[in-house]
Amino acid sequence: MPAAITCVSGYLPEDKLTNFDLEKMVDTTDEWIRTRTGIQERRILKDPNKATSDMGAEAVKSLCAKSGLAPEDIDLVICATVTPDMLFPSTANLIAHKAGATKAWGFDLSAACSGFLFALTTGAQFVENGTAKNVVVVGADKMSSIIDYTDRTTCVLFGDGAAAVLLQQDEGDCGVIDSQLYSDGAGGDFLCMKAGGSLRPASHETVDAKQHFIYQDGQPVFKAAVTNMADVSYEVMERNNLTADDVAWLVPHQANLRIIDATQRRTGLPHEKVMINIQKYGNTTAGTIPLCLHDWESQLKRGDNLILAAFGGGFTWGSVYLKWAYDGSKFA
Ligand code: UT7
Repeated sequence: MPAAITCVSGYLPEDKLTNFDLEKMVDTTDEWIRTRTGIQERRILKDPNKATSDMGAEAVKSLCAKSGLAPEDIDLVICATVTPDMLFPSTANLIAHKAGATKAWGFDLSAACSGFLFALTTGAQFVENGTAKNVVVVGADKMSSIIDYTDRTTCVLFGDGAAAVLLQQDEGDCGVIDSQLYSDGAGGDFLCMKAGGSLRPASHETVDAKQHFIYQDGQPVFKAAVTNMADVSYEVMERNNLTADDVAWLVPHQANLRIIDATQRRTGLPHEKVMINIQKYGNTTAGTIPLCLHDWESQLKRGDNLILAAFGGGFTWGSVYLKWAYDGSKFA
């Protein structure tokens, strides 16, 4: 029986960082940011004592409250993130602890902006093969913790946020139907954090060289993202004999509106069928796709065909075809 998403929940910090705020911090303009990326504002977790696990735990707590699932009944928590609270223990463990999922095991999954799709595909395996009944997949990133707010090429792009989905077996034919995931380490240098790992452990030199912040060479990433996110979405639709008419929603990673538009054109879907909230949250990395599902949940109906698509650091990219399993209006 397929593994289906049976509930979604999201958490966004209250503080907003608008393009106009950024105009006062770096040499940029609201016009440049909006026309090049589609972003107008993003959320920032300002409390210095709060981390990715706190946002993830909030999402899981509200997921349990909504679905009626007792936290102790969660079997597994997978957290997709590139901003773990610390290198170890895993953020998934901390989320489970903070959310009261006392019987769950868990692990983090690192696939940058494709992290949620990699984690969703992984979590679905445990549900499909019956080794877990209730799997929670979290996409969470406190991107503000790795952003250099004097670097205009990256600080305008990212925001903080988290969302979680509950995976359970579906009695019928709804759930994760197909997925195609890719990674290519040859793209690693274009989008990365240069220090803080075993290659370049933290030192005065790495801090002075700002190597604990995101580094991105935007144009090669943009080119690879436009091609690969569009191609993999088309590939998954084609092999499942889906035309644009059969697909209810395209759920793209929210890195840049121009990348989303390219994927929309390639899949042939009309604009109205594309979930876009980049203007409100920017790029929340592993959070973007589940936050879209959260924002659109009330409009989703059982049987809707959804195509999820992402591209990110690594390089990593992929697409998931899922048949939505419930009428989201029941939670409205
Ligand atoms: O989610 C993970 C994957 N990441 C992505 O998918 C991001 C992919 N890349 C992009 O989305 C785009 O490359 C960016 C939005 C990052 C940049 O857009 P672009 O159209 O590729 O701009 P560019 O890098 O070619 O820069 C054009 C100009 C440059 O100035 P010069 O050299 O032409 O004088 C930049 O210095 O824009 C300048 N620039 C800015 N100007 C104002 C770069 N950032 C800014 C800024 N405000 N914030």
